[in-house]
Amino acid sequence: MRKEAVLTLALTWALVAGSQPLEAGAAKEHAATESRKCPSPCFCSHDDCNDELSIYCSSRNLTSIPGDVPRAVRLLWLDGNNFTSLPALTFRNLSNLEFLNLQGSQLTLIEQHAFHGLEGLYSLYLERNRLKALTPNIFLHLQNLASLNLNNNQFAKMEEGVFAGLSNLWYLNLGWNSLVVLPDRVFHDLPNLRELVLASNKLHYLQHQLFYSLTELRELDLSGNSLKGIKGNIFTKLQKLQKLYLHHNQINAVAPRAFMGMKSLRWLDLSHNRLTTLFEDTFFGLSTLHVLRLSSNSIAGLRPRTFRDLQFLEELQLGSNRIRSLAERGFEKLGQLEVLALNDNQIQEIRAGAFLLFLRHNAIAVIEEHSLSDLRDLLDLDLKNNRLTRLLPNQLAGLGNLEYLLLSSNQLLEISPEAFTPLRCLSWLDLSNNYLETLDGDVLTPLSKLEYLNVKNNSLRTFSVGWLGPSPRLAQLWLERNKWDCNCSLKGLRDFALQNPTVVLRYTQSVTEGDTPVYSYNNVTCLNPADVMGLDLRDVPEGHFVDC
Ligand SMILES: *[C@@H]1O[C@H](CO)[C@@H](O)[C@H](O)[C@H]1NC(C)=O
Ligand SMILES: *[C@@H]1O[C@H](CO)[C@@H](O)[C@H](O)[C@H]1NC(C)=O
Ligand SMILES: *[C@@H]1O[C@H](CO)[C@@H](O)[C@H](O)[C@H]1NC(C)=O
Ligand SMILES: *[C@@H]1O[C@H](CO)[C@@H](O)[C@H](O)[C@H]1NC(C)=O
Ligand SMILES: *[C@@H]1O[C@H](CO)[C@@H](O)[C@H](O)[C@H]1NC(C)=O
Ligand SMILES: *[C@@H]1O[C@H](CO)[C@@H](O)[C@H](O)[C@H]1NC(C)=O
Repeated sequence: MRKEAVLTLALTWALVAGSQPLEAGAAKEHAATESRKCPSPCFCSHDDCNDELSIYCSSRNLTSIPGDVPRAVRLLWLDGNNFTSLPALTFRNLSNLEFLNLQGSQLTLIEQHAFHGLEGLYSLYLERNRLKALTPNIFLHLQNLASLNLNNNQFAKMEEGVFAGLSNLWYLNLGWNSLVVLPDRVFHDLPNLRELVLASNKLHYLQHQLFYSLTELRELDLSGNSLKGIKGNIFTKLQKLQKLYLHHNQINAVAPRAFMGMKSLRWLDLSHNRLTTLFEDTFFGLSTLHVLRLSSNSIAGLRPRTFRDLQFLEELQLGSNRIRSLAERGFEKLGQLEVLALNDNQIQEIRAGAFLLFLRHNAIAVIEEHSLSDLRDLLDLDLKNNRLTRLLPNQLAGLGNLEYLLLSSNQLLEISPEAFTPLRCLSWLDLSNNYLETLDGDVLTPLSKLEYLNVKNNSLRTFSVGWLGPSPRLAQLWLERNKWDCNCSLKGLRDFALQNPTVVLRYTQSVTEGDTPVYSYNNVTCLNPADVMGLDLRDVPEGHFVDC
């Protein structure tokens, strides 16, 4: 019965207006359309498919809410006007309203009962007004409200009970106000809240109880406040929280085990604070953390076990601190680490092994530009067994004293010509077990001190020796298992290998404990052209190169 009536209405409306916008007054006076007249000076549209009436009254210089808004309205735009206040019962007849936008409308006062009757309301936008206060129970009957925007107003405080009745609220934005302190129980009426934004206020203190009832919360943004410290037990109940933003505060201390109980936390941003010390159990229990940002603090040193629980950490930002030394084994458990930034610190001393231990056998796929640039004294950089695919200019910037660079068993496809430019002192370079197809002479030219070069097991077809100069220091060159194309381009390498048989050895022999000699070959086997395929470059007859 009811369905039929709705259908008739919709058809009548369609005949009059179709789905075209309709200016006020254009609708014929008709009993069926009476309840849907478009209020002047607004603009209405009706979606026949889902019988949805939208009314747009944005930026019309309105000073009061139009009185003749049809009951059927589902979406109502009133933003950008000049209402100053919302009187009681303004929307009392709009029980079908789902979306109400009142942002930027100069509101300074919302009277008690202003939202009375909006039982179906789902989203309410009140941001960018001049609200300073809201009375308790103001949203009391909005039991379907899911999203509430109160950001960019002038709230200096919130009354307890202001969110009473919002048992289905998912999203609450209180950011960009002037909140200094919040009542202990202000969020206790929001058991289903998923996301809470408190960014850019003046909060300087978080009470123990404040977040106790937010057991469904997934994201909490406290950035840009004036928090001085993080006490224990504040976040204990947030067991489903995945992202916690605390950046741009004045935090100088985080209590030991402050994040205990946060079993789902994946993202923790503490950058741009005043932290000087991290304790061994600062991050205790954060076993699901993927991203930890600690950049732009004043951290002076890292203790060995600070990160031990973070076995799933992928990104660790420690740039712009005052770190002077890296503790041995400090990064030991970080087996999933992909990004580590230590830029802009004061690292002078690298204890033997500090880096060797943590970078080898990681899953590092990206080295951020300049991220190692404080490591001026680093001698060894062991990135073996990671997932690097390319080396770009500046990734190794600052490593002017580096002597050993181990990059074997990555997935390197490309090394940019400037990548090794900073490495003036490099004597040992291992590029074996990668996917390199070319290695331009340019790439190696800066390495005038190179003594050991290993390019075994790549996909190289050719290799220039021009970069070696007249009296090279090179003492060992390993070339085995590539796709050598023994044409004229390899003649230089052939001549060099024949003239320096102790540099390009054919094999080495080592004797194991059982007295069985083990050979390690350095065959430069030609894959092309067909007539020399399978021969070692050094055994290809001179005549093959006669036309070069
Ligand atoms: C609103 O008022 C301003 C200035 O008083 C005027 O420039 C603007 O055209 C008006 N807008 C509308 C939609 O009437
Ligand atoms: C809003 O309306 C008041 C008068 O009700 C007026 O004084 C004020 O200038 C208006 N503001 C804007 C931005 O139009
Ligand atoms: C609400 O509807 C009643 C009749 O049901 C009417 O008297 C009243 O004026 C309406 N109020 C508004 C604000 O439209
Ligand atoms: C050659 O390198 C690839 C890629 O790193 C690796 O998977 C493979 O095991 C290596 N082969 C040998 C014989 O070392
Ligand atoms: C020799 O082979 C390399 C690799 O396949 C190729 O790039 C180059 O053009 C060839 N050079 C000559 C002179 O044929
Ligand atoms: C390398 O060449 C030697 C002969 O000089 C041969 O015995 C050996 O099997 C070759 N090794 C490989 C891996 O091709």
